[in-house]
Amino acid sequence: MSKKMSHLDSIPSTPGKFKMEKSAYVHNRLRWHSSLAKLTFWSFMFMGMILIFFFRSPSSNPLPQDPSRRSLRTYNWGGPAWEKRVRSSARIRSRNGISVLVTGAAGFVGTHVSAALKRRGDGVLGLDNFNDYYDPSLKRARQAFLERSGVFIVEGDINDSALLRKLFEVVAFTHVMHLAAQAGVRYAMENPGSYVHSNIAGFVSLLEICKSANPQPAIVWASSSSVYGLNTKVPFSEKDRTDQPASLYAATKKAGEEIAHTYNHIYGLSLTGLRFFTVYGPWGRPDMAYFFFTRDILKGKSIPIFEAANHGTVARDFTYIDDIVKGCLGALDTAEKSTGSGGKKKGPAQLRVYNLGNTWPVPVSDLVSILERLLKVNAKRKLMKLPRNGDVPFTHANISLAQRELGYKPTICRVV
Ligand SMILES: NC(=O)c1ccc[n+]([C@@H]2O[C@H](COP(=O)([O-])OP(=O)(O)OC[C@H]3O[C@@H](n4cnc5c(N)ncnc54)[C@H](O)[C@@H]3O)[C@@H](O)[C@H]2O)c1
Ligand SMILES: *[C@@H]1O[C@H](CO)[C@@H](O)[C@H](O)[C@H]1NC(C)=O
Ligand SMILES: *[C@@H]1O[C@H](CO)[C@@H](O)[C@H](O)[C@H]1NC(C)=O
Repeated sequence: MSKKMSHLDSIPSTPGKFKMEKSAYVHNRLRWHSSLAKLTFWSFMFMGMILIFFFRSPSSNPLPQDPSRRSLRTYNWGGPAWEKRVRSSARIRSRNGISVLVTGAAGFVGTHVSAALKRRGDGVLGLDNFNDYYDPSLKRARQAFLERSGVFIVEGDINDSALLRKLFEVVAFTHVMHLAAQAGVRYAMENPGSYVHSNIAGFVSLLEICKSANPQPAIVWASSSSVYGLNTKVPFSEKDRTDQPASLYAATKKAGEEIAHTYNHIYGLSLTGLRFFTVYGPWGRPDMAYFFFTRDILKGKSIPIFEAANHGTVARDFTYIDDIVKGCLGALDTAEKSTGSGGKKKGPAQLRVYNLGNTWPVPVSDLVSILERLLKVNAKRKLMKLPRNGDVPFTHANISLAQRELGYKPTICRVV
């Protein structure tokens, strides 16, 4: 598995935006009569854009030599054409529709949620930095898929306040679906800064912009089942303790829940945290077990089957993506408005947290058996003790709260 890192955290982001001189643009426009003049103008504009791009963006180098240089990339945003795409993508096309900024839209869950919102006529604008935690070509393929359904993904970082402010200037989003994050449990030991950058600094930057926006949007965001950490009481309920994280990833998600509490308390932001339990499905993440097990089984490599202490079973409450999407939409649809304005709280606002799981934990050895059956290949199993590098032995969701309040009801129970 390639684990190249996105060193975004060590580089301050300075968007290489370009802006047209607005007054000159309007003035020039009045003088156009022939289409030839227009053509000439746009040819010049195009050449100008290329030149600006060349001088201001290090990423314009077509042949980056050193992969870590990719992190020096700045994003190009701004300008009338860009704003037009932003507006059009976020335009509500159904009665009672909402307009949603989806962060992490090129990600696994983000792609499915964006497509589902668009399908029912909501306005959707994506935001993603396309980092290379896993193969970015998969993110590009998802982007192309969304593009075909009319969803534009702005390329940029959630910790870029200037960009976020601009997006809220262009569109009065009613909702934010915040899914951008550094995911993965073990990778945190390799690149801890990336978790701080996206899951803490990025989340705070996003909330800062949301609290100042007028009107303030309601925010639904992805926490994680990993906040239950070393909890042994099953099934996990929202009221159970979450103060024993087993990984930095879990700690940053837990921090997110506390940060959400603060922004709700001080600024009246409506905030809903969703604790996803091991999501799987098409367009899924290649860093997850069902993917790399498949690859390794086909290669004839041995598959580590972890065992918890005292020969305990390691199991995950796998949840199918379509069920997660329904839970996300349910959370957006039941979210109350934020109560603040101009950065000031006007009254108490909604603060919620829900498990979105399946309530059917599958032992990892069963997962391997299912893959063997589907691949018609016998896996080489290697029993090993669960190392203490972030993974927890067991997850099992109690979903009665989401069932009651979001109408959440998982329908896909087994992999096969
Ligand atoms: N998939 C799961 O099993 C699972 C379980 C629990 C929680 N979650 C959470 O759900 C959310 C979505 O997960 P996913 O599986 O789709 O992961 P993903 O990695 O496929 O999607 C996350 C997306 O966010 C983008 N991103 C990361 N940092 C960014 C930044 N600073 N600025 C802009 N974009 C950034 C990435 O490029 C990626 O496309 C994440 O918050 C994750 O922590 C997922
Ligand atoms: C996030 O952005 C802020 C400024 O908006 C900057 O000071 C900080 O260094 C950034 N944090 C990370 C971890 O990139
Ligand atoms: C699940 O959570 C609800 C509260 O949301 C609680 O009443 C119920 O007892 C829990 N069920 C189990 C089996 O723990």
